[in-house]
Amino acid sequence: MDDKTSSPIPGVQYHPLHPTFAAEVTGMDFANVTQEMVDEIKRALAIYGVLVFRKTGLDDARHVEMSHMFGDLDDIKPFVAGLGQTNRLSSDYLFDVGNVNPDGTITQPGTMRELLLRCNYHFHADSAFNPRRAGYSLLLAHHLPPPGHGGATEFADTRTAYDDLSQSEKDRINDWVVNNSQLQCRRSANPGNPLLQTDEFDPMKHRFGKHRLVQTHEASGRTNLYIAAHSHHIDGMPVDEGLRELLKLLDYAGQPKYTCPVEWRDPGDLVIWDNTCTLHRSVKGTYEGKYKRDLRRTTVHDMSSQAWGLNGEGATWRFGLP
Ligand SMILES: [Fe+2]
Repeated sequence: MDDKTSSPIPGVQYHPLHPTFAAEVTGMDFANVTQEMVDEIKRALAIYGVLVFRKTGLDDARHVEMSHMFGDLDDIKPFVAGLGQTNRLSSDYLFDVGNVNPDGTITQPGTMRELLLRCNYHFHADSAFNPRRAGYSLLLAHHLPPPGHGGATEFADTRTAYDDLSQSEKDRINDWVVNNSQLQCRRSANPGNPLLQTDEFDPMKHRFGKHRLVQTHEASGRTNLYIAAHSHHIDGMPVDEGLRELLKLLDYAGQPKYTCPVEWRDPGDLVIWDNTCTLHRSVKGTYEGKYKRDLRRTTVHDMSSQAWGLNGEGATWRFGLP
């Protein structure tokens, strides 16, 4: 697709949101999702990394049904177990990433659920901490705060960030293997909080998802910097030194010139992104503790040859499962 704004499907148009990635899409009919449409979305995702669709009209059932057409789906069982809660949603394929408690009330600041969700305020790639990482995420808005109260989702273009590194830096980091942990993100999002200073929240007492830092993004052939707020240490390097290096790279990739915010406007808005070439984070706002921000995500396992990283193809453990 040389012309970034054109599509082989009549009426479908891409409207770039940033000079190097992300686009809003018009002309897609989500009342009748076809495999041709899914294939076109995948082709565009290889270019843009992030696609925004407004007022799709999707509900939970059709959200899940469509997501199955993208590939193998991850499920939420380990996360529900990790939070010690029941799933308030209708399907185990729906990740509950909003601020609504299982009883329907708004999650309050300082509760354990809110402390753990703070991880989402930091740039990350979904499931980098699992043996098989996430490929696409499909996030659908159900209930949004009033305008002006925050709650956007911001994305970062890690392919362009890699391109811009000096050749000497590319050579220096080329073979690094990164150990990722959900607990690294949770602890760093709550610095010094004694509730997270237990063994239960100590990354070194749990498994890591091992993935190469520098990888070919197979769908586009470009090189990606696969880093996240989950990144904890680097194989063959002292833990503290590795973390310093990783935090520097995370800050580098999160510079404003590589990032693009997406505002949620209406229920039914859908954003699909490729976790293997972008990062994302939730933007804080005055809605917290006051207004519902109900967003539900399906997560498609990475289907590329890099999916399992160095964790052994077919590994069955996932973070949060005993
Ligand atoms: Fe996420």
